Amino acid sequence: MCGIVGYLGEKKATPILIEGLSKLEYRGYDSSGIAVVENGEVKIEKCRGRLSNLKDKVLDKDFTSSIGIGHTRWATHGEPSDVNSHPHSNQDGTIAVVHNGIIENYIVLREWLISEGYKFVSETDTEVIPHLVDYYFDGNLEDAVIKATKRMEGSYALGVISKNDPDKIVAVRKDSPLVIGVGENESFIASDIPAVLNSTRDVYLLEDKEFVVMTKSGITIYDENKNKVDKQIFHVTWDIDAAEKGGYEHFMLKEIYEQPKAIKDTLTSRIVKGEKIKIDGIHLTKEQIENFDRIYIIACGTAYHSGVVGKYVIERLAKIPVEIDVASEFRYRNPLITEKTLMICISQSGETADTLAALRLAKEKGARIIAITNVVGSSISREADDVFYTWAGPEIAVASTKAYITMLIALYIIALYMAEVKNTVRATEIEKIKDGLLNLSEKTAEILNDIEPIKAFVDEIYKHKDVYYLGRGLDYAVAMEGSLKLKEISYIHSEAYAGGELKHGTIALIEEGTSVIALATQSDLYDKMVSNIREVKTRGAKVLGIAMEGQTEIEKTVDATIYIPKVMSILAPVLSVIPLQILAYYTAVKKGCDVDKPRNLAKSVTVE
Ligand code: M6R
Repeated sequence: MCGIVGYLGEKKATPILIEGLSKLEYRGYDSSGIAVVENGEVKIEKCRGRLSNLKDKVLDKDFTSSIGIGHTRWATHGEPSDVNSHPHSNQDGTIAVVHNGIIENYIVLREWLISEGYKFVSETDTEVIPHLVDYYFDGNLEDAVIKATKRMEGSYALGVISKNDPDKIVAVRKDSPLVIGVGENESFIASDIPAVLNSTRDVYLLEDKEFVVMTKSGITIYDENKNKVDKQIFHVTWDIDAAEKGGYEHFMLKEIYEQPKAIKDTLTSRIVKGEKIKIDGIHLTKEQIENFDRIYIIACGTAYHSGVVGKYVIERLAKIPVEIDVASEFRYRNPLITEKTLMICISQSGETADTLAALRLAKEKGARIIAITNVVGSSISREADDVFYTWAGPEIAVASTKAYITMLIALYIIALYMAEVKNTVRATEIEKIKDGLLNLSEKTAEILNDIEPIKAFVDEIYKHKDVYYLGRGLDYAVAMEGSLKLKEISYIHSEAYAGGELKHGTIALIEEGTSVIALATQSDLYDKMVSNIREVKTRGAKVLGIAMEGQTEIEKTVDATIYIPKVMSILAPVLSVIPLQILAYYTAVKKGCDVDKPRNLAKSVTVE
């Protein structure tokens, strides 16, 4: 998984490429590079490490070229190193390529190219591409790229330049994201919109196997048979500030504080007091909804955790059995899918490879697909039958926060919508939950306005090597998310357990001083949870309880308590996750971790 950019216009390309790459570092940041056509030659600068290393390197060169491509890498084939960094080139250095994705048949292609006399210098799958383009090059770059891609299997978003067809960038995508920025006398390619927003708000969203030829006279888009394709410009309405840090120390903190607004935006026009629920992107009839006999919720990571909440909520309200699975497991377990199956795919980025593959599998077998995603025009949104956009705005920090909360909101809305259509819950109860949803933004802000009691616990957590999260029912689902937040950004080992499951093994790990965070917001499970807390307390654990205002009984059992504002139990996950996000964030800051870009992780996992 990587980020690619390209620029062709009248300005110097290098600073624009570097600026674009800086907006894509969330996609990978173990190495980076650029290639420009300078004085008739392809010049490549690339190196291992953060973009700042590349910046230092290219500033010295002072390239004047106004055409170039760039890349920020997250290694898949070959370790992060200078030689494995992109751009890659053919043997005589006349062609340069940046690539995001994986060429699955690269070994076969590599062997064939070697037999044709080509020499390889890197361990990457990508290096076959410039050689293939070279093999087919006959004076016209797009023709060579079209021919080369016909030999390639796997996923790719490519930017290609050549000194022998010099005033041109050729780009193409298949199963990896790519947008084309349309400026005045300039054009751009990028893996994601923030990379071009400094220069333009008009973009083309490419479909698979659409080829783009950018020259000084404009942009032409072709299909794989070189027929011209007419495309509508997509005008980006969100503000560039939304993609910047806006005064916060980290994107993660900024995004945590954006949650009240994100909740409001996601509810907007869908939940209106006293009116039936309307979901713009979902076009299911009453008959279709009544016909579903099973729902699969499929996702990865944090999106999966939102799905665990979704399972409880949909079963409780819409009364349809729901199975939840991580996408990478689902796709290989021969799931039972019929035309009566509804699949809900949840993905912030809409590009997660495993989720996309699971979606395709289910679609092939006849399931109806609803996507819940934050990214308009993403692959998952385009391939699903119905789409629920979460409207959280761009999420830059690798650790997901506002996207998680808005996924929860989406799932509540979908569950309520089905319950309303199927008449499975009394109208008064539905209205009560709608009211509760409409108040969540304010209650979220209330928590965020007073985070000192939460921060007070950071000094304790920070000392530990292991932290255990406990909960029952919906609290268990939130415990999983809290635990993931802590481990991914602070590198403290943590696990989440269902309170009742503890005594079947894990309790053996509890000893004097073990750190436990126990959620007890669910009124029907409150007493049982308190007794689980007692079990760990008597074995020496130090416990932080998370409970709802008024549920003070817990204080007798725990060492400290954080209270969330009072809401219906079913809605508690939206509030109870916030103290866990704050705790994880400040613990990571105290440990000096790279909060927005945790080691070994990338924002969007577009490879299997
Ligand atoms: O873009 P997606 O929602 O499909 O991403 C899924 C996971 O990779 C993602 O939620 C990941 O677990 C986050 N880093 C968690 O904070």
